[in-house]
Amino acid sequence: MAGSLKLARPLEHVRGNDLPWEMLGTHGLKRRKLGEDVQTGHVTNLVYIPKGWRGGGVAHFHAAFEEVYMLEGSVTLDGNHYFREGVYFYRPADVVHGHDERSEEGALALVRSDGLLVLNLVHEPEQPVEYPLPGSADPRGHVFETRVADVAPVADPALPAEWRIRPFSQDPVSGARTFEALVPAGWQGKAPVLASAWEAYVLEGTLEGAGEIWQPGDYTVGLADTPLLAANASAQGARLLVWTFGTGA
Ligand SMILES: [Fe+2]
Repeated sequence: MAGSLKLARPLEHVRGNDLPWEMLGTHGLKRRKLGEDVQTGHVTNLVYIPKGWRGGGVAHFHAAFEEVYMLEGSVTLDGNHYFREGVYFYRPADVVHGHDERSEEGALALVRSDGLLVLNLVHEPEQPVEYPLPGSADPRGHVFETRVADVAPVADPALPAEWRIRPFSQDPVSGARTFEALVPAGWQGKAPVLASAWEAYVLEGTLEGAGEIWQPGDYTVGLADTPLLAANASAQGARLLVWTFGTGA
């Protein structure tokens, strides 16, 4: 999917922190919908998990991938391992998970998926932790968990020389990738054109571009020819989460 656009127009300024909360499912989750491609169901949400949350308690799988960046708090899906603030994961379609979902302290996460997360229940899971079904075949692979702080920042040829990225995952077939972009304080220049549609969420700091000030909680999208946030300066530096769609399959 090379051209997905999840807002009405490129560089539309979505202030995530001002969006209304909507109930998500029947177990107390809420979301702020940042962007959605209604043709494909591809959606990016800010998901709130309340303190003391318990999921359905039955392992399941989805036909859509689920990609998560934990902003606050913690949550367990198998009753044992906790995903905590500052981790990233990418779970392809057809991976059984959710044996025992709960969160004692609550959590806030950016969650992206390429379709509806319809639950296909697995009452007798073959393994006590998440595992792929035989048909699971996502070229991006299964990133069970990456600690953001453990990913060394590197220069990237697609981005300005002064920027660094922390690469989280990549699809070698389509070229789609997910990374954190680190913009140094005092940067001035020209935002990169990534040659594929993209989405971006500001995690920290501010960026100037397109006559806007992009701030933490802000989200927008672009097409293959839209420079990333149309950024041209950052007084205090910034940290962004960037998802690209790739140009291949
Ligand atoms: Fe799930």
